Amino acid sequence: MAKNMDAYWMPFTANRQFKKSPRLLARSQGMHFWTPEGREILDGVAGLWCVNAGHARPKIVQAIAEQAAELDFAPSFQMGHPKAFELAEQLVKLTPQGLNKVFYTNSGSESVDTALKMAIAYQRARGEGSRTRLIGRERGYHGVNFGGISVGGIVANRKMFGTLLAGVDHIRHTHDPARNAFSVGLPQHGAELADDLERLVALHDASTIAAVIVEPVAGSTGVLLPPKGYLQRLREICDRHGILLIFDEVITGFGRTGQPFAAQTFGVTPDLMTVAKGLTNGCVPMGAVFASDKIHDAFMNGPEHLIEFFHGYTYSAHPLACAAALATLETYADEGLLTRAAQLEGYFADALHSLKGLPNVIDIRNIGLVGGVELAPLPGDPAKRAFNVFLDCWEHGLLVRTTGDIVALSPPLIIEKPQIDRIVDVLGAAIKRNA
Ligand SMILES: Cc1ncc(COP(=O)(O)O)c(C=O)c1O
Repeated sequence: MAKNMDAYWMPFTANRQFKKSPRLLARSQGMHFWTPEGREILDGVAGLWCVNAGHARPKIVQAIAEQAAELDFAPSFQMGHPKAFELAEQLVKLTPQGLNKVFYTNSGSESVDTALKMAIAYQRARGEGSRTRLIGRERGYHGVNFGGISVGGIVANRKMFGTLLAGVDHIRHTHDPARNAFSVGLPQHGAELADDLERLVALHDASTIAAVIVEPVAGSTGVLLPPKGYLQRLREICDRHGILLIFDEVITGFGRTGQPFAAQTFGVTPDLMTVAKGLTNGCVPMGAVFASDKIHDAFMNGPEHLIEFFHGYTYSAHPLACAAALATLETYADEGLLTRAAQLEGYFADALHSLKGLPNVIDIRNIGLVGGVELAPLPGDPAKRAFNVFLDCWEHGLLVRTTGDIVALSPPLIIEKPQIDRIVDVLGAAIKRNA
């Protein structure tokens, strides 16, 4: 154990609070973590929305170990290794129709910046070089790189970092508690919020807009669901104006909403899709962008010996990540995990909505195995009440996540009903204790 904790500057963490009262995880298996002292913690958030098949799954563990011994690294620029191709072939069997090309990255943030660059370069390749503008959405989270925070809409993630990318605008978010609070599943009201894109088309002209990026379900901002018909309408408006639609499925990908991808759950196919997290069950960092044939093929011209897309990472298609992802897909398939959230959705929704009526609970939202419980902020002290609930859950053996005053749940897809009950019991008791 480290003698002191000073050297490690922790990401997205209240460092001073943490170091006064550390929360350490030392081991994991299935639905649980254990602290160094051996205290069991039920994982209510799949680590960080990524360990969809649960922890330390044998096939994945073995695949990583064997891969490290066989081929530890291989360059992916002008070279390849068999598992990178095998994985892409497997992945496009799962993706929505037409998304048949896979570009590898190492994280969600890199996937987002890759997709944004692909969109702008595609528009140029097809002779529409004036389309450089990118449109995001208020409250969106697209990782922390400059492209991602530029199209993102979470003020704390943006305000410290200067002027960000030029030529970015945002459509309105879809959160409307006055009309939609305590909706079970998709909210009824708000499809017309997609028309906000028409406002930006009128302002900037479609000929300047390359792409729109949204999360089908906004996760990190606190689980905001798309109103019924909203994503369809966004798709229609994009088509009308030659604008690419990018779905950021870093959280929703790999079974979270009851289908392999939220695009399938909602019946709307984007032109580009970003993934990470569940791709390798969180075991080795890896992300990917799925691109339509149309986009990919637009790049495939010019002399054959020349690189078509000047982009990539040293660790794109890393052999350990490819091995982990292949074993992850096998585990998902063996256990039917990519559709399991659909089977549990009703039970999870009932359990979660049973928290309605507890002190300070002002909204509850759910889809598949994602839940959000919004609390009234402590007067003058935003985010404190939910943070206290998070600490209370931790003390009582449950890991949840909070953002602002929203508690988010996204348990591993292997969860059993008694574990759903336990999550809701511990969370409910914590909410009462912190009233
Ligand atoms: C929708 C979305 N996009 C991008 C990211 C960034 O992923 P990473 O932290 O792997 O860079 C996240 C992470 O939570 C996310 O939820």
